[in-house]
Amino acid sequence: MVDRQRPRRSCLAVPGSSPKMIDKARGLPADQVFLDLEDACAPLAKPEARKTIVAALNEGGWGEKVRVVRVNDWTTEWTYRDVVEVVEGAGANLDCIMLPKVQTAEQVHALDILLTQIEKTMGHEVGRIGIEAQIENARGLVNVDAIATASPRIETIIFGPADFMASINMKSLVVGEQPPGYDVGDAYHHILMRILMAARATDVQAIDGPYLQIRDIDGFRRVAGRSAALGFDGKWCLHPGQIDACNEVYSPRQEDYDHAENILDAYEWFTSEAGGKRGAAMLGDEMIDEASRKMALVIAGKGRAAGM
Ligand code: GLV
Ligand code: MG
Repeated sequence: MVDRQRPRRSCLAVPGSSPKMIDKARGLPADQVFLDLEDACAPLAKPEARKTIVAALNEGGWGEKVRVVRVNDWTTEWTYRDVVEVVEGAGANLDCIMLPKVQTAEQVHALDILLTQIEKTMGHEVGRIGIEAQIENARGLVNVDAIATASPRIETIIFGPADFMASINMKSLVVGEQPPGYDVGDAYHHILMRILMAARATDVQAIDGPYLQIRDIDGFRRVAGRSAALGFDGKWCLHPGQIDACNEVYSPRQEDYDHAENILDAYEWFTSEAGGKRGAAMLGDEMIDEASRKMALVIAGKGRAAGM
């Protein structure tokens, strides 16, 4: 059985056309690396980049990182070659294909069918390679529930803020920041919550997209902190300098992690032979019940996955 819930606090974008950056990425502390054949790769560079990516995956050295390749979206002429070359060439050393600008469940089905055929042809386990779906326009968002359930291969639903803002004509040029003139709340709240609900309803991960001001680590923390607070599992990093902040923001604070473990201990005692005769489980002045146990499990689970 594939573990579709692998840790993805930090998802590092690396241009598939740059052997140097790919090599450097191996040693960085990101939970996931995705080698990009889409927007970080110029049209004329794509054929060579497919070869570079296959070689880099087969060479190995990725440790525990989730290994992902972002292909081009189905409206281009490149998608099928991206998938066939990469999965035939390095299918055994690849965890997921990321599909950008997903608009319908059918687009996920199409990728699923293609992956199945390649896995069968190459003698790989059918269904092992996962799919990460990027939501980057209004049509994708209104269909997000169907997209999230379109295939058992789906592992993440990803918010693509740059393309999304452009596609809905949002009047801002700074990805992740509020559009000037909108001063009544968070312009991203609905989109983030919509994606989170679709992801949680079907038990897949919700991932926030990029923050383009790569030198502004405080800005990164602020924007990442919002989706992390809502429950998102991780965020993209466009630069190695964002990774440490990202891992920190999407891990629980130490005090919250310790508190969660204490709640779980208190609850365990309450359900034990010795504690079961008491009316309620208490942790100091705090009453613990089944719902608080579930909340504590979320925080403790994230902390344990982060090695706390
Ligand atoms: C990412 O692909 C984005 O468009 O934000
Ligand atoms: Mg995009």
